[in-house]
Amino acid sequence: MRTASSITALALGLTLAGGAAALAQNAEGDAATETEAPAAEAPAPAAGGAGAAAAASGGAGAAAAASGGDAAAAPAAAGDTAPAEEEEVEITEENGKMILPNGMDLTPDYEENGRWYNADGIPVPKIAEDGMVDYATFSGYRRYHAECHVCHGPDGEGSTYAPALKNSVLRIDYYDYQEIVASGKQNTGSGSANQVMPAFGTNPNVWCYVDDIYVYLLAHGTDMIPRGRPANKAEKSEAFAEQEDSCMSM
Ligand code: HEC
Repeated sequence: MRTASSITALALGLTLAGGAAALAQNAEGDAATETEAPAAEAPAPAAGGAGAAAAASGGAGAAAAASGGDAAAAPAAAGDTAPAEEEEVEITEENGKMILPNGMDLTPDYEENGRWYNADGIPVPKIAEDGMVDYATFSGYRRYHAECHVCHGPDGEGSTYAPALKNSVLRIDYYDYQEIVASGKQNTGSGSANQVMPAFGTNPNVWCYVDDIYVYLLAHGTDMIPRGRPANKAEKSEAFAEQEDSCMSM
């Protein structure tokens, strides 16, 4: 049933899950219980992603995925890179709008299907003065910790294996973010590790919540919300639930 390369990928997934689980315990016991058992679930998407990448690109791809597995396990175990250095984010106020240095407008403009968007139709978090988060931001917190934190670290803070997404979303734009999550990414740069970001475009547990994960990362990356599970969240609206059901049943 499994090919040699997907077994390698599974082994990589397990290695990562072990490392990230340890990280998660240090940082936040809450994540493990509140989200859908991320440590236990994690090997599946990791294996599926790497395996799928290998299958898609044929023989050479399979070789790359397999060697990626070997190379990637090393830095994760060695822990030689410091995760997530703190970056100060300057949000400028222009005509009552909150603008990020990359030009992203963070100002919630309208609500559709229970999610908030800026005037350009890009999803944004909506955080009340008392810290209450909109439901999509809360949903993003949960989905992030179920699907992404095994590699990217708790709270989007980064790990020895994968970058701090709370910072990435301040730099790359929404469409680049979507593209990377849908299609994956493989580091071909000068780094020593051959790291693999799996493709999630066909995984409904990620793809139906890709905007939620984005707004959650924006909210935490801009320090609108602190680390950890948002204490106070808006109710899940009927429109949100309907949209979720129809996406998950596609
Ligand atoms: C199996 C490990 C793994 C999982 C799971 C994973 N990623 Fe990644 N991701 C990576 C690696 C490794 C990179 C860096 C790839 C590179 O630089 O080529 C990356 C890069 C990214 C980037 C680009 C970041 C930047 O600064 O350029 C985004 C965006 C991203 N991942 C989003 C996600 C999201 C959202 C999830 C959860 C749905 C997720 N990833 C789950 C390993 C993973």
